[in-house]
Amino acid sequence: MKVLVTGVAGFIGSHLAEKLLSEKYDVVGVDKFLDNYPRRFKQKNLGALLKNPKFKFLEEDLLQVNLRELLKDASYVFHLAAQPGVRSSWGDEFIQYSQNNIMATQLLLEAGKESRVKKIVYASSSSVYGDTNDLPMREEGNTRPVSPYGVSKLAAEHLCYLYWKAYGLPTVSLRFFTVYGPRQRPDMFFHIFMDRLRKNEEVPLYDDGEQTRDFTYCADIVDGLLGAAVYPGAGEVFNLGGGTESSVLNAIHIVEKISGRKAKLKTFERQKGDVRHTRARLDAAAEKLRYHPQVSLEEGLSQQWHWIQRLDG
Ligand code: NAD
Ligand code: UGA
Repeated sequence: MKVLVTGVAGFIGSHLAEKLLSEKYDVVGVDKFLDNYPRRFKQKNLGALLKNPKFKFLEEDLLQVNLRELLKDASYVFHLAAQPGVRSSWGDEFIQYSQNNIMATQLLLEAGKESRVKKIVYASSSSVYGDTNDLPMREEGNTRPVSPYGVSKLAAEHLCYLYWKAYGLPTVSLRFFTVYGPRQRPDMFFHIFMDRLRKNEEVPLYDDGEQTRDFTYCADIVDGLLGAAVYPGAGEVFNLGGGTESSVLNAIHIVEKISGRKAKLKTFERQKGDVRHTRARLDAAAEKLRYHPQVSLEEGLSQQWHWIQRLDG
């Protein structure tokens, strides 16, 4: 059975494709090597995949490639391609977000309409909720993003719903909550933090460190993605969180214990676009997608710490 993964050279896309291959799917992966971070990381993410004869890689831009052709015999589509950073989505950068997050999704959905795909699973984001004290964040709660990135992810989520409503295209959107683990993007906090810690360099800490995230381990996200593909319903949105909320400072202390090192923190003011707290209500994902996050923050951070020490440079 053929499966299409967009954004396959990225952090989450590469983990997902490896899991799909281990479950005997044939995987076609597309990625354009967007310059949101250096290409060498993405090339490395593809390492094991490229050795597998059941994997086909296309270096293509979703805005240019013939999507109808690509979707022709795909059973499932996992749409992960995007420009993903929160804090960098202001100003001139927004054009990248509009094109790669909104336009690319609309083109994919248009092509999907003509296909016989069983499910398009879209990688949405907790950033669609914005800053709220109404915790845990519920799928049916308010969506008021506070970053242009969040606006772009919400717009694409709405498009997924529209194409289901208007054309019966079976889409499901999953709101991921701050994902971490081996291969985490180099612009994300744990990557920056652990890299600086191993080099004994200063770590930039935004805000007071008491901001919290429902950090989610990458393998749990992959399980949620697979659960959404085989879920018989469509036109719905689900949170995928890690199941525990931690402050950034608490996570720092856990890594200090794991590594036996002390972080040199340098504080900066809260960044525009950052939310103060995230916490996911997981009842719907648990009930309908059988999503039950397995990896504790201690275990996941330990995996990422071991990975980062093997990174060159
Ligand atoms: P990533 O940047 O590592 O992966 C995304 C990949 O998409 C990149 O390799 C990029 O080159 C590719 N891409 C972007 N635009 C493209 C285009 N037009 N055509 C082809 N390829 C294109 O990011 P990630 O952290 O793995 O995130 C994957 C998805 O999950 C994104 O949609 C992101 O918004 C979403 N998400 C991520 C997190 C997180 O914590 N990492 C949380 C919530 C949502
Ligand atoms: C993450 C992803 O980067 C987004 O792609 C995703 O959509 C979002 O999660 C989500 O949940 O939807 P974010 O929570 O900002 O965004 O993740 P990190 O970059 O790992 O930041 C976590 C916290 O660390 C934030 O409070 C941030 O301000 C802080 N931080 C980040 C620092 O203190 N220092 C840094 O150098 C970077």
